[in-house]
This record gives sequence, C-alpha cells and structure tokens, in this order.
Amino acid sequence: MNNLMDTAEYRNLPLLPIHEDDVHVWLTFPDEIHDPEILTAYQDIMDKEEKEKCRRYKFEDARHACLITRALARSVLSRYTEKSPESWAFSRNTHGKPEIVTDRSTPPLRFNLSHTKGLIACAVTLGHDIGIDIENTTAKSVNLDVADRFFSPAEVKKLRSFPVSEQKNRFFDYWTLKESYVKARGKGLSFHLDQFSFLLTQNRPLGIMFDKGINDNPEAWCFFRLKPTGDHIAAVAVHKGRLHNIQMNVTKTTPLLNEEPFSCIILK
Ligand SMILES: CC(C)(COP(=O)(O)OP(=O)(O)OC[C@H]1O[C@@H](n2cnc3c(N)ncnc32)[C@H](O)[C@@H]1OP(=O)(O)O)[C@@H](O)C(=O)NCCC(=O)NCCS
Repeated sequence: MNNLMDTAEYRNLPLLPIHEDDVHVWLTFPDEIHDPEILTAYQDIMDKEEKEKCRRYKFEDARHACLITRALARSVLSRYTEKSPESWAFSRNTHGKPEIVTDRSTPPLRFNLSHTKGLIACAVTLGHDIGIDIENTTAKSVNLDVADRFFSPAEVKKLRSFPVSEQKNRFFDYWTLKESYVKARGKGLSFHLDQFSFLLTQNRPLGIMFDKGINDNPEAWCFFRLKPTGDHIAAVAVHKGRLHNIQMNVTKTTPLLNEEPFSCIILK
C-alpha cells in the first residue's frame, strides 16, 4: 500500500476524545521518516512562516526535524477536531511559546513541543498549561558544574549524593523536569531556574517547591517522568489546578500516516 493511500485512510480515523484529566504524549522518530512522498505532504501542510523557519536551519538534519515537528503538531491537533492539519494557525508569546489561535469552533486544546536527537514529542491537554522536554542522554556528557549553575542548592546537594554511576540519569531527570515546568509557564530563559526545586524521593510522588520569589502553588502541578527509549529521558509538567487524577497515555506516530500505543516507563 503506498503512503498516500495510508494517509487518506489515516485521515478517516474517528476523532480522538480528550478529557480534562488527560495528557496525551505523541512521539515521532525522525530518523525513521524518509519517504519523499510523505515529506512532500508535510511541506504542503506548513504555512509560510513555518516553511521559512525550517529553511533557516543550516544543517539538513535540523531542517528535517523542523519539518517533522511542524507535521507532528498539525496532524496531532487534527486528531481531536474536524480541522484539517493545514488549517491550524499559531501564535507565539513574547518568550516564543507557540499556542493555537482559537476560533469558536476550536476546543481549548493546549500543546507543547520538544525535539532532540532522534526523537520529537508533542504533549496535548484540554485547557491546561503544559510543558514537555526531552533530552538525548547520549548526546551530551554531564558536567556537574552545569547543575551548580542552573539547579537549586537542594537539587545540587541531592544530585551529588547519588552514586556517580547514577548521576548522569539523575541530572537529566532534574534538567527535563525543570525545563518542562519553565515551558509550561511559557517564560523561557527569563525564569530563575534555581528558585524552584524538584523533590526526587524514592516511593514518593514527584513534587516541586518554590522559593519566595516565585508566586506559584506546588499543589496545582502534576509532573511525569518518562523513559521512551534507552537514549532518551523526558518530563511533562501539567498545571492541573484542582484536578486530582491526571492520566497520561503515550502514542507513537508517523505524522499523517499511522499511530500506535507506545509503552514506556512513566513515573509520576
Ligand atoms: C526555548 C526553551 C523554552 C526550550 O528550549 P530547548 O529545551 O532547547 O528545546 P525543546 O526542544 O525542548 O523545545 C523547543 C520547542 O519549545 C517550544 N517553545 C519555544 N519557546 C517556548 C517557551 N517560552 N515556552 C514553552 N515552549 C516554548 C517551541 O515549540 C520550540 O520548538 P519550535 O521552535 O521548533 O517550535 C528554553 O527554555 C530554553 O532555551 N531552555 C534552555 C535553557 C537552559 O539553560 N535550561 C536549563 C535547564 S535546567
């Protein structure tokens, strides 16, 4: 079966329900997508600004990731509504966070994107602030000086207390959690990363603590850690407000082509 036939069939899938207490995480593996026909279909659903953004990347792999990120966001959002992938419009806040330009027919979907070597992710909720961060743990070596610079004193102390063999993964746990929170708040680099701390305590739910400088309520947040592959660590932050039980499910997709449930370790 050729890809375009697959695409037509895929577009006929019934709409996906999403509820207030759902977090849907969609994963795409860019190195698996090379078919020129599907890449052309991705080009065709981008708007002018997105095409320009992708063109600006100097390296082919970055252009490829940019194209697939756009296709992922557009195709995923269209799984929840009758809107076609090419019809979505986005705006960015002053710190660069993209949001959907809504009209009366659009449900209050919120989303956030993250890309790293070998993996692209899109997290979706109904109405909640959301942030996702993925990192390829093989791509970077870990230098604890970075933690000294960006993490809170409590986090640095805890990180240094782990056996050296565990420190790299713990570093990425903190890093992705901190990024996910900053991304959910949409404030980018204006945020003071050392003014909030994650509590990574075995057998206890993930928690966050804020210094006086940050006006936020720890109880209103829910965090997840994911291990999608042996090379990747991810975290998701959701502003759940008063909701108690936020459910997450993870789907692997080739945008516009197929999707399947993806099982991976999820810690809450
Ligand atoms: C831009 C930033 C939000 C995330 O950057 P990143 O981790 O390098 O990149 P990710 O792949 O996870 O996320 C990039 C995507 O997030 C989205 N994004 C951009 N600005 C955003 C913001 N202010 N808030 C939330 N999401 C944002 C965009 O969709 C972007 O992808 P796109 O430009 O292709 O659309 C910013 O927080 C940053 O540069 N952080 C790194 C700084 C740092 O020192 N972190 C230390 C962590 S302890």
